[in-house]
Amino acid sequence: MKELIDKLRDTNELSRGEWECLIRGRTPKLAEYLFEEARKVRHAHYGTDVYVRGLIEFTNYCRNDCFYCGIRKSNLEVRRYRLDKQEILLCCETGYELGFRTFVLQGGEDGFYSDDKMVEMIGDIRDKFPDCAITLSIGEKSYEAYQRFYDAGADRYLLRHETYDAEHYGKLHPPELTAARRQQCLWDLKKIGYQVGTGFMVGTPWQTEANLASDMLFLKELNPQMVGIGPFIPHHETPFAAYDAGSKELTLFMLGLIRLMLPKVLLPATTALGTIDTQGREAGILAGANVVMPNLSPTSVRKDYSLYDNKICTGDEAAECRMCLANRMHSIGYEVVVNRGDSLNN
Ligand code: 5AD
Ligand code: FES
Repeated sequence: MKELIDKLRDTNELSRGEWECLIRGRTPKLAEYLFEEARKVRHAHYGTDVYVRGLIEFTNYCRNDCFYCGIRKSNLEVRRYRLDKQEILLCCETGYELGFRTFVLQGGEDGFYSDDKMVEMIGDIRDKFPDCAITLSIGEKSYEAYQRFYDAGADRYLLRHETYDAEHYGKLHPPELTAARRQQCLWDLKKIGYQVGTGFMVGTPWQTEANLASDMLFLKELNPQMVGIGPFIPHHETPFAAYDAGSKELTLFMLGLIRLMLPKVLLPATTALGTIDTQGREAGILAGANVVMPNLSPTSVRKDYSLYDNKICTGDEAAECRMCLANRMHSIGYEVVVNRGDSLNN
């Protein structure tokens, strides 16, 4: 197995069979070796810098009904909210003062924010914060809409593919949503010129090692600038309420593998990873991750953006999370830096 890790490190790729074999054959000892190699690669390109992105969850209305997601439209228990433009700009201002140079506007697929409204909002943020990167994470849109947002000043787009395999995708989503459409959006975004982030959940119901192998092969082909992965965590008001969460152990292993496959990619230690284990994000960084994405949303709405149960940081002000993260990263020998944190994977 160790030979497969060496091969991955030296050639940055594996065959489908090798991926499956390596993922299936993982052991704690092998994971230790993987993380050491992943850290070496990370240090070669990014040193001990940790990039931060300020996440602004600006609407929890969503037209979609993904079976795993707490803000799916069928969940009538959610208190729905929208931030208006002034509130969003205020989040950016607070963030800027705290040293954020990337804002991620994330939301459900909410028709209230028409393409025109988004273009206006992006333009305003672009004018006020010319030295910042603007990242969108608002789901599946038409090619034309993506192009308009890009022309208005958006630089980056996050859209996880969730799972590459069409059959598995079909078990996690209602029939209106397809793996093919999701992947097409990612190719569209790349073509337009966005720095693209994609990714998947680890440990969703029915996920197999073969599915994860497919995810790795897709990532290799797409070659995105960022890959966000985190454990699936059940939400009590969804069809997946009774399923087990994904494990920290497998999530970390996948992080290490992604670092070796795409050496220069941006790799967040996600909030979901920090939710299943109090030291999850630290462990993620030590497995090869180099980004954290704390929340800039007003605390008054934080709890309402619950994609899964027990999400961390829902009571903490932006400044508290910023300090907390700086301390946490410092405690393991890493340093949060003030810059746009552009990907070296181009
Ligand atoms: N557990 C973990 N991650 C989730 N996401 C959505 N619901 C859950 C859940 N229950 C992830 C999806 C989505 C991202 C914004 O959050 O991967 O793309
Ligand atoms: Fe939010 Fe620690 S990062 S409180």
